[in-house]
Amino acid sequence: MNVLLTGGAGYIGSHVARVLAAAGHGCVVYDNLANGHAQAVSAPLVEADVADGQTLRRAIRDHHIDAVIHLAAFIEAGESVQDPGKYFHNNTIIGLTLLDAMRDEGVSRMVFSSTAAVYGLPKHLPIEETDRLEPVNPYGASKLCVEYVLRGYAEAHGMGFVSLRYFNVAGADPAGGIGEDHEPETHLIPLALQAALGRRDGVEIFGDDYDTPDGTCIRDYVHVMDLAEAHVLAMDAIRPGAFEAYNLGNGEGFSVRQVIETCRQVTRRPIAARIAPRRSGDPPHLVASSARAMAELKWRPRYAELATIVAHAWAWHSSHPDGYA
Ligand code: UFG
Repeated sequence: MNVLLTGGAGYIGSHVARVLAAAGHGCVVYDNLANGHAQAVSAPLVEADVADGQTLRRAIRDHHIDAVIHLAAFIEAGESVQDPGKYFHNNTIIGLTLLDAMRDEGVSRMVFSSTAAVYGLPKHLPIEETDRLEPVNPYGASKLCVEYVLRGYAEAHGMGFVSLRYFNVAGADPAGGIGEDHEPETHLIPLALQAALGRRDGVEIFGDDYDTPDGTCIRDYVHVMDLAEAHVLAMDAIRPGAFEAYNLGNGEGFSVRQVIETCRQVTRRPIAARIAPRRSGDPPHLVASSARAMAELKWRPRYAELATIVAHAWAWHSSHPDGYA
């Protein structure tokens, strides 16, 4: 299949592009390079915004696109609390431009990058796809809105969608050359590894008074290559007129303190940590049940161990201390 990959110059997108190529699919990256990196792109690049419907339609026609993997989005839950308009505008409203372009150009399949943040404060763990959807930050809400739009387009226009609800994505392709490089970086593992490299004084723990065993937030970390693999499996599973959602995580939770300790062990370097106030919009505890993705997509994570995920991230950060710069 010829796939249009929005956000393909970003952290997750660059890994998805590699897995698509390995599976024999054609791939065109569509990215405005606002947050992505041209050096991370391993396929033809259309440098444009998803909001630019004309360029989008031309790209779909010129490259004979059969399916879209839509990753382009803003991704910081904390920032979304301060600036919700940025998130609803970019993640939700611009998503409609893409869907209309697809419908008009006869492209009826999409894999959508969704998030664990659609669940908000889970009633029970691990979280299942049928659980209550009640996001506690505008980021999660902006993605959930798109899921509702997709359901509507599936029913009305016969299009097919798979939404992948990512838990905490980390690591890097063990083959090397690509990895995580956000500016500013807000994610725990890269921040801890930058501290190990001496590029930061240390890392802040956002709250140690949560109702969790060590008081810090618990997350389910998934390797970016395993996540990327799921996109290719999802593309094959799309059915016309249907919307399906799948969680992607490893089913095991690690606290912020445990993650920092794993980073110390993997890097064998000191990482200073100090307690800071809670970050708004952070649910205390998120762990996935990915049973559905395993049963229906036949998804089999290869790098489920947190130490492996951190080791692969460390290989990238220690060999690219300035990221792609
Ligand atoms: N954290 C710290 N200090 C930091 C950075 C993070 O204590 O300097 C904590 C956060 O409060 C959170 C945990 O580490 O409890 C993980 O934070 P990240 O910023 O690494 O990731 P998030 O859980 O906020 O969000 C990520 C993605 C979202 C996705 C979510 C799903 O960025 O897009 O996982 O769980 F929705």
